[in-house]
Amino acid sequence: MDGIHGKVAIVTGASTLIGAAVAAAFHRYGAKVILADIDEARGREAASALGEGATFVRTDITKDEEIQSCVQRAIELYGGVDFLVNLACSYIDDGIQASRSDWHASYDVNVVGAVMMTKACLPQMAGREGAAIVNFSSISARVAQTGRWLYPVTKAAVAQLTRNMAMDLAPEGIRVNSVSPGWTWSRVMDELTQGDRAKTDRVAAPFHLLRRTGDPEEVGEAVVFLCSRHASFITGADLPVDGGYSAMGPEQAEAAIPRLCE
Ligand SMILES: NC(=O)c1ccc[n+]([C@@H]2O[C@H](COP(=O)([O-])OP(=O)(O)OC[C@H]3O[C@@H](n4cnc5c(N)ncnc54)[C@H](O)[C@@H]3O)[C@@H](O)[C@H]2O)c1
Repeated sequence: MDGIHGKVAIVTGASTLIGAAVAAAFHRYGAKVILADIDEARGREAASALGEGATFVRTDITKDEEIQSCVQRAIELYGGVDFLVNLACSYIDDGIQASRSDWHASYDVNVVGAVMMTKACLPQMAGREGAAIVNFSSISARVAQTGRWLYPVTKAAVAQLTRNMAMDLAPEGIRVNSVSPGWTWSRVMDELTQGDRAKTDRVAAPFHLLRRTGDPEEVGEAVVFLCSRHASFITGADLPVDGGYSAMGPEQAEAAIPRLCE
């Protein structure tokens, strides 16, 4: 992938499967990577699995001083910031039962955290050739899902934020896009199924055209593509990495008409 080698990427939320795979993809294409997360144990493990050119920096994206020290570490270790991936998320969501503080906590991580990371990286990224930001939205941003209000709403906000950021950062030479993954093999799915990928794929099949969950690596490749030279005229866009989930409406990946004859 052109335009990645020798660059520096910060990936928030890089401690678990998807974030670690995004960090690994940048590393594989020759970038230096800062893995920024509050989960120290997993984050250090993910960074040391990559080896030289990857560093874990404990960063709580709801704390401005920790954000500043994360960016500072990127400068000290690797000489600046070319790419920012706002991937860290909160899944806190009790639907209508959620309290005001739950809403604030969700927005603080999923939306405000991404904005503050962007603000802190901006002086480093402005004018750097090929600078790019990738935000994490979701398939959940566009559909109603039972019992979920906070997560989908914040993810929809991220999609809109991406367009606003793309508009205002274009003069600085920074492209801004988002990805919207479908069901991806991730920490949550691993925990919910006790590691049963086959079962997860079976459940996902009717609402993903490719009839399976995505691999974290497939999301990583899409993120690196959006940062690469191959995406040099793409900004303000949302890229579904969802195995065809968003190509369907209420129809599922199963024939509906024959059911009329059952
Ligand atoms: N799992 C899926 O199928 C799926 C589908 C669509 C979109 N996504 C998106 O992909 C991204 C990763 O999702 P995941 O399922 O791997 O989530 P996850 O919960 O496994 O990972 C999120 C990471 O963010 C970190 N984090 C939480 N709060 C933080 C804070 N205040 N500061 C720094 N880090 C913090 C966590 O420690 C964790 O490592 C998210 O943006 C999510 O919305 C996931």
